[in-house]
Amino acid sequence: MNLIMKMLAAPATVLALWAVSAQASTDDIAKRLEPVGQVCVTGQECKGMEVAASAGGGGAKTPDEVIAKHCNACHGTGLLGSPKIGDAADWGKRAKEQGGVDGLLAKAISGINSMPPKGTCADCSDPELKGAIEKMSGLK
Ligand code: HEC
Repeated sequence: MNLIMKMLAAPATVLALWAVSAQASTDDIAKRLEPVGQVCVTGQECKGMEVAASAGGGGAKTPDEVIAKHCNACHGTGLLGSPKIGDAADWGKRAKEQGGVDGLLAKAISGINSMPPKGTCADCSDPELKGAIEKMSGLK
């Protein structure tokens, strides 16, 4: 081999080796880039969250559980101007304004003034929140 050929062959070998290793490392990188966790956005279906949610409690939360753990902190005493548990007049007036229990549920989900979204029960389902509202208000 003359010098020119040697000079051409060397980079070609390097290139060939690089191509092979690049192929392997592309796969590695793809593996490394796989998502470790996924973010769930409110209002979108979130696969896998049902498992995570049920792993903690196992089944739906009862109205009493939700109220005791989350709502009672404010609604037990009427803190911050919240309608007190069992105050049928206050709850009734609010239900009228919002168009019934479903309207109240919508407000409980979004939050209203000092009332935090979902009443701080971020992992409560809509039916669980509704059950708590029905129980606190005495409305059905
Ligand atoms: C940090 C205190 C706090 C907690 C905790 C809380 N609430 Fe409230 N809630 C309020 C306040 C204050 C209001 C009154 C808001 C207003 O009308 O200005 C309210 C109002 C409401 C209303 C009536 C909304 C309307 O349209 O008048 C519903 C329904 C409700 N809460 C449900 C719940 C439920 C269910 C929980 C528990 C899962 C809960 N809240 C937990 C403070 C709280």
